[in-house]
Amino acid sequence: MQNESSNWPSWISFLILLAFMTPPAMGEGKPLIIAHRGASKAAPENTAAAILRACKMGAKIIEFDVRKTADGELVLFHDDKLERIAGVKGSIEGSDWESIKKLDVGSWFDEAFSDQKPITMGKAIELCREGGAIALVEHKSGDAASYAKIISELKAEKDVIVQSFNWRFLAGFRKQLPGIPVGALGSKKLSDKIGAIVELNPEWVGWKFSDLSAADLETLQKLKFRVALWTVNGPEEAEKWKALGVDGIITDVPDVMLKIAEQGSQ
Ligand code: G3P
Ligand code: CA
Repeated sequence: MQNESSNWPSWISFLILLAFMTPPAMGEGKPLIIAHRGASKAAPENTAAAILRACKMGAKIIEFDVRKTADGELVLFHDDKLERIAGVKGSIEGSDWESIKKLDVGSWFDEAFSDQKPITMGKAIELCREGGAIALVEHKSGDAASYAKIISELKAEKDVIVQSFNWRFLAGFRKQLPGIPVGALGSKKLSDKIGAIVELNPEWVGWKFSDLSAADLETLQKLKFRVALWTVNGPEEAEKWKALGVDGIITDVPDVMLKIAEQGSQ
């Protein structure tokens, strides 16, 4: 798919990526706003429609979840079961792409989106690129080599960040494509996991906002990790973390958060 924004110069994407890789300066600048599963309050999560809405809202980083089908296709889907989104039994991992690609993954959200079918990771990366955004690829299942192969084939090394709760996956992925920033996702007590974070040394850390304290954020900042919080949808919560100098806010409402990020930072 081509549109006007496909002419977005690759150096702009590179600058956004660089911003994510540069050590943070506490309390300076504004947080990067990351659309969670696309603009998932406005359109069904992890669909082309949600990605396109996020681009239109001006999001420069778009997160989506990726799983591997039984026959090896990497596709956008969050849950380990198909039921909530597609209304059928089974899983991505237990199905072939031929059957997955026919599912309706939009009607659960609104009948107006009944045309939305699952899309591949490659397609999602291309949609982000055409919309001038970095793809924040969240690994849910599948091996590192499969992810690296698609990203390399698309020559999208400068257009993606890869994150996962599975830190062993991230270490393996880094061996495949060392130049790509990785994000270690986590929740609960940061202090229980800080040793493992330091050992992995990711470009950034993505934590559940309600499990992180201001002191935890300071710990991560002192260690020079960039920090993104998920899933922040409340303006007051966002203001609080912005004032504390968080680097990224992962949100279902990128339009709302982009306004907050801009306030007072001109
Ligand atoms: O981007 C981080 C966040 O998406 C992790 O949780 O369950 O929404 O994939 P989940
Ligand atoms: Ca996710």
